[in-house]
Amino acid sequence: NATPRVRKIAASLIQHIHDFARENEITIDEWLVGLELMNEAGRMSNDRRNEGQLLCDVFGLESLVDEITYKLASDAKDEPTATAILGPFWREEAPQKKMGETIVSGIESKDRTWMHGTVADFRTGSPVEGAVLDVWHTAPNGLYEQQDPDQPEYNLRGRFTTGKDGKYDFYCLKPVPYPIPFDGPAGKVLQALDRHPYRPAHIHFILTAPGYKPIVTQLFDRQSKYLEDDAVFAVKESLIMDFKPLEGNPQAEFDLEMDFKMATF
Ligand code: DHB
Ligand code: FE
Repeated sequence: NATPRVRKIAASLIQHIHDFARENEITIDEWLVGLELMNEAGRMSNDRRNEGQLLCDVFGLESLVDEITYKLASDAKDEPTATAILGPFWREEAPQKKMGETIVSGIESKDRTWMHGTVADFRTGSPVEGAVLDVWHTAPNGLYEQQDPDQPEYNLRGRFTTGKDGKYDFYCLKPVPYPIPFDGPAGKVLQALDRHPYRPAHIHFILTAPGYKPIVTQLFDRQSKYLEDDAVFAVKESLIMDFKPLEGNPQAEFDLEMDFKMATF
């Protein structure tokens, strides 16, 4: 419907697209290149491959929208946990797990990580009960489970719900840097701009809790390459973490501690 907001942003979009074409004297042949990129992204997109989002992401659009959304939402000096882009590989209905369980199955690794911490209200510091931490990351081969026929379905995904103390803990892997899929339109854009397709090692999260604003975010490994030149511009300083060596736990080699801070609506 033509609400005032729809009218305003449609008019602005049309103005900017026209200005873009005029300023650069875009020809029919050049416009067709862009059109084919969009059509190809549409044809490629399916349950396993979110090419439209990938294309937006290499242009930095999702990262910009994340920044704008977060800025609009932030209203205090002390800050809730910073957000970061969702990316194309989140899946609904990740397995519900109990605290202390692992999201890793069928992978031998010397990078097993115990992740733990507290979910708290950023204003009061009180623990948040009933917060759901939805987590996902790639296997050491750099592939998410839906990209990789050799992984069990929903591998390296899980949802954990906090109790009264707001605490959570689970086992995952220290993530690896890896290239975003570059055999489609997003890859063509990167190649045309002489850009690499790599992302720094990261773990994704969506944190939700009754009465609180959801937090979509990622945590990055301080030791990883590509923190300075993430192909999709998602890194924020406060989200760069230290994976510390863990002694005396036969289930993990690394310790990752993260306290999430949420804001009420
Ligand atoms: C993108 C984001 C990711 O987290 C990822 O793993 C791959 C691609 C993206 O923004 O396109
Ligand atoms: Fe990712």
